[in-house]
Amino acid sequence: MPLGTGPSPVRRIEPHELWIKDDSRYGDRYGGNKVRKLEWSLADLLRRRCGVVVTGGGTGSHHAVAVARYAADTGIQAHVVAVEQPYDAHVGEQLAAVRAAGATMHRVDTVAGAYATAGRLLVGAALRGRRPGLLPVGGSNTHGCLGFVEAALELAEQVSAGELPPPRRVVVAVGSGGTAAGLILGLALAGLDSEVVGILVNDRTRVGPAQVRRLAGATARLLRRHGAPVPDPVPLAPFDLRREWLGPGYGKPSGASVEAAGWLREHAGLVADPVYTAKAAAAIRDLREERDASGPTLYWHTAPGAIAGGNR
Ligand SMILES: Cc1ncc(COP(=O)(O)O)c(C=O)c1O
Repeated sequence: MPLGTGPSPVRRIEPHELWIKDDSRYGDRYGGNKVRKLEWSLADLLRRRCGVVVTGGGTGSHHAVAVARYAADTGIQAHVVAVEQPYDAHVGEQLAAVRAAGATMHRVDTVAGAYATAGRLLVGAALRGRRPGLLPVGGSNTHGCLGFVEAALELAEQVSAGELPPPRRVVVAVGSGGTAAGLILGLALAGLDSEVVGILVNDRTRVGPAQVRRLAGATARLLRRHGAPVPDPVPLAPFDLRREWLGPGYGKPSGASVEAAGWLREHAGLVADPVYTAKAAAAIRDLREERDASGPTLYWHTAPGAIAGGNR
């Protein structure tokens, strides 16, 4: 179900061996990585004739805004279970955007409380005769991951067309892990020899490299079930999950992330969100200094950008 227009642009940041793939305007109603996931996961909910979707995230979740907007277009009623995170202007904007899109918001204090609330909402919808569907935090289920398998194939075409050299490493923010899982599968299937360096920004739920690889494996099985010639065992790109840029925790800026957001704006004209991409931007600057950091680096910019008609 197309919601965005690809390929998203890639460009070089001179004089570095740094390229940016900019997903900020992928999608008419909202940009960023969540739109690519919803192209597949919303289509799956429609195929299953769901009338209600229950999803969750922090109160500042981009995924929640994307679900609220795109589900409204399909007629699926969205419930967002939002776990409190440190309040700032960004969080305020996200909460307002979810409400403005017509989704029902359920604010809770803990992750355990979120699971309990989601369970109640799913059962309640079923009892009222509206088939419910669950989208996990961040939209990171196997259908969502297909969006980033497709995105990796899109990147490989841009490499073939000479828009950028084959990246030695692809750097991306990791929250719930679905973006990285789709990329490690998709890059390997596309025959690109890149490593994925995930920058962990989430310490609220457990996300580790094994979990990301398992999700990639499950996505490969989904593809096989639909007849795609995916080898078994599946090849996955090398994956390194780095925690050094998490700072004081999920949703809390660090000195480095604030500074890096300014650097990204100045050098690439891109607005980093404080929770995810500002920390990934901090990482790309530091990674350049590391031993064995030679070769082209691709930073995948996953934050929603301003869109025509406003972002709220
Ligand atoms: C802007 C942004 N970048 C990156 C991520 C991380 O993606 P994922 O949850 O697939 O790891 C998210 C969401 O969690 C996000 O909102």
